[in-house]
Amino acid sequence: MLPVMLKQVLKTIDGRTDQSLAALKEFLAIPSVSTKPDHGPDMLRCATWLADQLKFGGFDVSVMPTGGHPAVVAKNRHEKGRPTVLVYGHYDVQPVEPLDLWTTKPFEPTVRNGAMYARGAADDKGQVWCHVDALLAWQAHGGPPINVTLLVEGEEEIGSPNLKAFVTKNRDALKCDVAVVSDTNQFAKGIPAITYGLRGLVYYDMVKVTAAKTDLHSGLFGGTVANPANELCKLLGSLHDENGRVTVDDFYDDVVDLTPQERAEWAKLPWDDARYEQELAVPKAWGERGYTTLERRWARPTLDINGLNSGYQGPGAKTVLPGEASAKVSMRLVPNQDPQKIMAAFERTLRARCPDHVKLELHCHGGAPAVLVRTDGKAIQLAADAIEAGFGKRPTFMREGGSIPVVGMFKQELGVDTLLLGFGLEDDNVHAPNEKFDLDALQQGTRTAGALYEKLKAL
Ligand code: BES
Ligand code: MN
Ligand code: MN
Repeated sequence: MLPVMLKQVLKTIDGRTDQSLAALKEFLAIPSVSTKPDHGPDMLRCATWLADQLKFGGFDVSVMPTGGHPAVVAKNRHEKGRPTVLVYGHYDVQPVEPLDLWTTKPFEPTVRNGAMYARGAADDKGQVWCHVDALLAWQAHGGPPINVTLLVEGEEEIGSPNLKAFVTKNRDALKCDVAVVSDTNQFAKGIPAITYGLRGLVYYDMVKVTAAKTDLHSGLFGGTVANPANELCKLLGSLHDENGRVTVDDFYDDVVDLTPQERAEWAKLPWDDARYEQELAVPKAWGERGYTTLERRWARPTLDINGLNSGYQGPGAKTVLPGEASAKVSMRLVPNQDPQKIMAAFERTLRARCPDHVKLELHCHGGAPAVLVRTDGKAIQLAADAIEAGFGKRPTFMREGGSIPVVGMFKQELGVDTLLLGFGLEDDNVHAPNEKFDLDALQQGTRTAGALYEKLKAL
């Protein structure tokens, strides 16, 4: 049986989906692309828009400066003796290119096929909106029964470069018993989930090979000096073996093996490789031999080229020895790989394999460790109850392949675990053209957030 007040709140949420959708459209229409310098004013406008919604609902709100884009911090009236929850999300979004692949424009939010289409719809504005709207619904009933601090940052998609300093500086203001992040997925539509593990990340934004001081005629000079494109391809091509394993020295040293229990649980999840292949239109799934697709995605480390650049890219042909070749390379990490150790191993491996007829330059953009939270804690069980109230179903427990660096930071700086309650769907096209957020997920997610604020009373 749900408590009377929660029933009222859920009724309020269900009774004003049109209004909620209209507000979300305003949020999504602001092009808050954090990585592009010319979007600075949009970032501030987006933070201010969000702050205004919360101010209007009676929250104590500030748009706080950081070393980069501002963060929004909002609190209800905190009372002594009640649990405090820190809800984190991000209002920044990924770039929208290639624009011509969008059916409707990325910053003209449009509802079709039961979903809201816009950049940021699922990642993460739509999910942030679930919490904000649930909080506003609670305010109409005297406020949530626990202390809530909402932190919405504007730099997640660029690796949260200023968040650590911000959290450290505002540690007292952000003090909490548990953190909540809604920036992940359901297992599938109608199968809500709590995520208990995320992969970590190490990202090299520059792996560059150079030889001669300039581009050269490939006939006049070819065969006399090295071609950086050839050499970069060889280096990068050497990083996997025939079993799909990464060949960076010592790469697997600290990897924690999957437990037989975990493998057995995952084998029971409804999963079909053929359907996966069909949905992604790939000829065949691929990856490290000896592991299932879910295992590879959730619990095995990877290395991937994210960008590759060299030589002539225009139409037709040009005979040239490129003066340089560069790539962006990321590695997804799993427990207990240490980002610093992996960086050192990556650099050592490349330098050892790089021949002396070219020069190699490396630049690391940053790293974050993988996350694993226990599934038998009190908070996570209360979160499962909240999902049941929101979706009418108990959640599945799963891990995810993506990364959310802030989770490790909360553990380190605030000493708290994070509940990963995500409402996205795998086919939401996050970071891709035609990003969307399912309208059922929006409502179920808002209901779940509403219920969570009640359930966490028991923490
Ligand atoms: N929300 C995503 C991560 C995510 C999505 C995790 C779906 C699980 C399921 C987040 O915004 C993101 O894109 N993270 C980046 C890392 C960041 C440092 C740029 C990632 O995983 O690539
Ligand atoms: Mn996100
Ligand atoms: Mn993202």
